[in-house]
Amino acid sequence: MGSSLSCCGPDKVDEGFSGIGGGNNSWRIFTYKELHSATNGFSDDNKLGEGGFGSVYWGKTSNGLQIAVKKLKAMNLKAEMEFAVEVEVLGRVQHKNLLGLRGYCAGTDQRLIVYDYMPNLSLLSHLHGQFATDAQLDWKRRMKIAIGSAEGLVYLHHEVTPHIIHRDIKASNVLLDSHFEPLVADFGFAKLIPEGVSHMTTRVKGTLGYLAPEYAMWGKVSESCDVYSFGILLLEIVTGRKPIEKLPGGIKRTITEWAEPYIVKGRFRDLADPKLRGNFDEAQLKQAINVAVLCVQSEGERRPTMKEVVSILKGQDPKAKVMHMRMESIKYGEDLMAQDQTDDDRDDRDHHHHHQKGDGDESDAYGIFSAIEVHKIRDPHQRFGNNRRAI
Ligand SMILES: Nc1ncnc2c1ncn2[C@@H]1O[C@H](COP(=O)(O)OP(=O)(O)OP(=O)(O)O)[C@@H](O)[C@H]1O
Ligand SMILES: [Mg+2]
Repeated sequence: MGSSLSCCGPDKVDEGFSGIGGGNNSWRIFTYKELHSATNGFSDDNKLGEGGFGSVYWGKTSNGLQIAVKKLKAMNLKAEMEFAVEVEVLGRVQHKNLLGLRGYCAGTDQRLIVYDYMPNLSLLSHLHGQFATDAQLDWKRRMKIAIGSAEGLVYLHHEVTPHIIHRDIKASNVLLDSHFEPLVADFGFAKLIPEGVSHMTTRVKGTLGYLAPEYAMWGKVSESCDVYSFGILLLEIVTGRKPIEKLPGGIKRTITEWAEPYIVKGRFRDLADPKLRGNFDEAQLKQAINVAVLCVQSEGERRPTMKEVVSILKGQDPKAKVMHMRMESIKYGEDLMAQDQTDDDRDDRDHHHHHQKGDGDESDAYGIFSAIEVHKIRDPHQRFGNNRRAI
């Protein structure tokens, strides 16, 4: 693997290399030159968006394949082998609901990851972004997206070896193909970039609201963190609301805080996204809310596994009856909330939901983990015991 990495310098040509796997699973090494020309020199016009690890560009290879190229921020040499191993793991992952690897380029000072381009972009763009007004997400599609994403997670948690915990389940990481089949993205590379770095530069927006309390507070990672995030995502899919929204006056409210009063009163119809115009299956809606309630329990051990989630969502779990439900709400600390970049006006203004970041202050403004460091030295029960809203 080490030698294959060094063959990808910007000036060297690498032809005929074929990665492991076959069919959809095949990937190869791309040259920098090739990706440069495919993306029109990483032109701003080709930019699909920007995330914590770098920018993503649309491109077309010389043989006509549409690709999305993620250009990582510079990494150090030490990460090179890890990168190679990671690519190999990713290259083995194959599931209809996971966005696998198409290839990569690892030169001395840059890392680029190549994926298939997803023509319907992300779930985020349909729920809150540039496609939101098109109302293309009918109830059936929403359920397909929820179940498909959950199945992708079942594969990561239970089927692939080694098991993979995603850690960043959110609407921008659920991509949609031309049939609105969901493909969960970004499940591999998060691990190899040092936590401080990866999350420092990830905008808190759209991320903070998905974080399981034990992960946000103590960095405790397990499959159940993904289950929590999935619960928030599911609520978002059903209600069309953002995980954290800014109310007039600057107060921020989480989606669970918003949903709880309706759930308590059994007013499920009021939870459905108004964009559905009343066209939804009420039994399925209740079941989905039920699943979300189970997933967002503050104690990780009480959350269902993704396997259970799938079977309830598919209506295959005979035990899963909708009972009287209460939804728990996490109270993120004031200071953490203050760092959240939720700004409703910004989303509609731009084609890219990730805006050009401001210069300089990025690491302070977006640093979840630096914020968590602050939490660690305080009594967690102040936040998660007494401040807990429900149950
Ligand atoms: N294969 C793809 N096809 C189409 N759009 C993509 C593809 N990969 C990423 N995108 C879009 O590009 C944008 C940036 O993605 P990126 O993964 O860098 O950031 P993010 O998902 O917002 O945050 P994070 O860094 O936490 O994953 C997102 O809007 C994402 O949906
Ligand atoms: Mg992403």
